[in-house]
Amino acid sequence: MPRRRLPLLLLLPITLTLFLLFPSPPPPRPPPHQPQPQPLPCGAAPSDATAGRWVPTREPLPPPLYTSSCPFHRNAWNCPRNSRPPVAALSWAPARCGGGAVPRIDAAEFLAVARGRRIGLVGDSLSENLVVALLCALRSADGGASKWKRRGAWRGGYFPRDDVIVAYHRAVLLAKYTWQPVENSKELHKDGIKGTYRVDVDIPADEWVNVTRFYDVLIFNTGHWWGLDKFPKETPLVFYRGGKPIEPPLGIYDGLKVVLKSMASYIEREVPSKTLKLWRSQSPRHFYGGEWDHNGSCVSDRLLQEHELDLWFDPRFGGVNKEARLVNSAIQEALIGTDIQLLNLTYMSEFRADAHPAIWLGKKDAVAVWGQDCMHWCLPGVPDTWVDILAARILHHFKQANG
Ligand SMILES: *[C@@H]1O[C@H](CO)[C@@H](O)[C@H](O)[C@H]1NC(C)=O
Ligand SMILES: *[C@@H]1O[C@H](CO)[C@@H](O)[C@H](O)[C@H]1NC(C)=O
Ligand SMILES: *[C@@H]1O[C@H](CO)[C@@H](O)[C@H](O)[C@H]1NC(C)=O
Repeated sequence: MPRRRLPLLLLLPITLTLFLLFPSPPPPRPPPHQPQPQPLPCGAAPSDATAGRWVPTREPLPPPLYTSSCPFHRNAWNCPRNSRPPVAALSWAPARCGGGAVPRIDAAEFLAVARGRRIGLVGDSLSENLVVALLCALRSADGGASKWKRRGAWRGGYFPRDDVIVAYHRAVLLAKYTWQPVENSKELHKDGIKGTYRVDVDIPADEWVNVTRFYDVLIFNTGHWWGLDKFPKETPLVFYRGGKPIEPPLGIYDGLKVVLKSMASYIEREVPSKTLKLWRSQSPRHFYGGEWDHNGSCVSDRLLQEHELDLWFDPRFGGVNKEARLVNSAIQEALIGTDIQLLNLTYMSEFRADAHPAIWLGKKDAVAVWGQDCMHWCLPGVPDTWVDILAARILHHFKQANG
């Protein structure tokens, strides 16, 4: 017994001493000094595009960064030259920015920070619409800018003062596709098929397959060609993987899903991880009263209101503009688990039924032949705001990389 009591008696004073030394739990140690992360500038946070509203641009209006004479312009989107009444001067005010709007790109600062860098856009004509706005904005800070169309680029610019390249590679489906006419006359009239477009879901289009290491920023899109108006049943898409037709054959929307997944994993794999990889969500169209080939119209100066958006765009309502959100859900799914960031410009653009070229296309018979253009955007116009958001994100990325 005494052998057991002894340690207890010894423990008592130790406990007392400890209690006297530390009457209460010791305070937590202050964290080691660390540089606080810089707050994201207005426009640079992903949520800045997806929560906010359009407000009148604050007076006095800043001078335009470019005019209808910008050499990078494309006639069909040059609304002022085509005598379209001007698009209202509006700015996008993200909820996060406390009432402030995304600032207009500072072209000189942008080029200086981007010194020696290359920015590439890959996709359909909506990427071209965006690149024209970016090229014209940047040219305001470098009068020596020249056209640049190498390495498979369709349109681009070189900015000599800071040695910056910005270019667009046209690859409407992203994946490679080739026309295959029906060969012999026996088959010629079967089902009225004149031929097929073979889409190799696992092979990028020639126009960008070899530029994955050339650019420091790559922005992808596809979406506007995945419809029966581009590929009607007489000339359908047929999907191949590993050089063999996919069986059973995929419909156009399932084909889109497979191509998105396969291109996203190619980009994840082949584009170095230090490259800023962005995927732009689908640009919404605003055909009112019918499709483009059924007198659909967007001669309007009215923005849609929040409560109207679902009726216009929710696929459940089956309207003519439903494809943007359908494509977006496929994009969202394809990007899961990759290092590609979504650039979600759909929501902010859904409001802007007032900002398409409509009937002002600069060619006499264009509307009779093609219908109104309620898909592309006037420039100056909505893509300038896309540019401002994109620029904020790219600048933030470069500044972090520059240290
Ligand atoms: C884009 O943002 C809108 C508005 O927040 C959201 O409803 C939509 O789901 C987003 N799209 C994607 C593809 O994440
Ligand atoms: C891409 O580069 C590879 C390797 O240099 C070359 O074999 C191929 O022809 C190139 N493809 C295109 C479309 O330029
Ligand atoms: C478009 O409108 C014109 C003139 O009103 C009419 O003649 C034509 O049939 C319409 N086309 C379609 C496809 O609805």
